[in-house]
Amino acid sequence: MQIRDSIRTIPDFPKPGIQFRDVTTLFGDAQAFRMAIDNLLHPYAGARIDKVAALEARGFIMGGAIAHQLSVGFVPIRKAGKLPGPCMSESYSLEYGEATMELHEGAFKPGERVLLVDDLIATGGTCEAGIKLIRRAGAIVIGSAFIIDLPALGGRERIEALDVPVHILCEFE
Ligand code: PRP
Ligand code: ADE
Repeated sequence: MQIRDSIRTIPDFPKPGIQFRDVTTLFGDAQAFRMAIDNLLHPYAGARIDKVAALEARGFIMGGAIAHQLSVGFVPIRKAGKLPGPCMSESYSLEYGEATMELHEGAFKPGERVLLVDDLIATGGTCEAGIKLIRRAGAIVIGSAFIIDLPALGGRERIEALDVPVHILCEFE
């Protein structure tokens, strides 16, 4: 069984022309979900990771599982207006729209080593906003991990240009 085969594609969601890569089918398949979490962590075996951070919303499902597996804390990076405490904000553009991400002040200690995870990288704008927030908090993004890459949109190159290693399990055109 391939991880890629467990991901469903929904045409024209959320807008005409978008091929939406839907990981809920992967999350619903126990074998595929476990394999994805295990494979996402392979390159980081033996690395010191103090915290896992993830990007709303689908990244949270993976981030919680990965943090549990590593026995480290989990930090959510959320869309604007969702986190209850004082926040730092970063705005960014998406394949289909604009958004702002927020991080609770004090979520990281300076120098903490962070693995940043999400389900999918497209333009890399969401991930870049996350990296900027983590760095503004004084922590270090030691790597990033995604299930899906949309290579035509250039996200991997954008994140590697920020000196953050990128690990991805599969690609869709
Ligand atoms: C999707 C995906 C990533 C982001 C990738 O999230 O889960 O977070 O888009 O796009 P980018 O690389 O071009 O920034 P979405 O904004 O749809 O939010 P959701 O997970 O809350 O549905
Ligand atoms: N986020 C940005 N582009 C996406 C796509 N094509 N499928 C799922 N999530 C996305």
